[in-house]
Amino acid sequence: MIGIICAMDVELEKILTMMENEQGDIISGIVFHKGTIGGKEAVCAVCGVGKVFAAMCTQTMILKYSPDCIINVGVAGALDKHLQITDIVVADDLVQHDMDVTALGVPRGMILGTDYIAFPTEKSVSDRLFNSVDALNKDRAQKGEKTLGIFRGRIASGDQFIATKEQKEDITDAFGAAACEMEGASIAQVCYVNHIPYAVMRAISDTADESSEVDFPEFSKAAADCTAEVIRHFFTG
Ligand code: ADE
Repeated sequence: MIGIICAMDVELEKILTMMENEQGDIISGIVFHKGTIGGKEAVCAVCGVGKVFAAMCTQTMILKYSPDCIINVGVAGALDKHLQITDIVVADDLVQHDMDVTALGVPRGMILGTDYIAFPTEKSVSDRLFNSVDALNKDRAQKGEKTLGIFRGRIASGDQFIATKEQKEDITDAFGAAACEMEGASIAQVCYVNHIPYAVMRAISDTADESSEVDFPEFSKAAADCTAEVIRHFFTG
């Protein structure tokens, strides 16, 4: 069984339309949708925004459904200047940019108790996501539609919506991340502790600067729908 976690309804909406034999369960206020996508077993949930909700949802999903792997899907702000809105980023690893015990001599971002700053994703799942974007792009090209840019790299998560040049530069300089969001690295940490393979795929909704206030509400749905199309190929490819 594959677990899918999104932070917001708009990120799961289109994926849920692909689910068959859906059964819902509410645990700690989170709705878990169990069913099949392309004939394969899946469980999907909207966790809510931020690392705490994401961690709660991930731990609950693991204990209740025992997924073989968990994929975090949704939108992100671009940190890398080459990224454009609706481009796809598949994470190689994830950091928590707001974890800071530097006052005690610990490197910035270090998650005490794990010895990790960056949690690496499961390569085979990330490769499959990457190949699914390729397959989607072939379909889109055949239909004369615009293809999606595809990047692999680091994603930075934190309990902040990044919307200034200063915040963006700080995260880029400290961690060299390509994109930022608010859940992925906490899902990674919970999966790591539980020995569950995980991957994170995000589509760019904004450029994590002063334009994000306008761009995020405007482009989130279009970006989220791109990730849903990748997920369709992931399950059917
Ligand atoms: N998710 C999408 N855009 C974001 C941003 N600019 N900051 C944090 N999370 C995001």
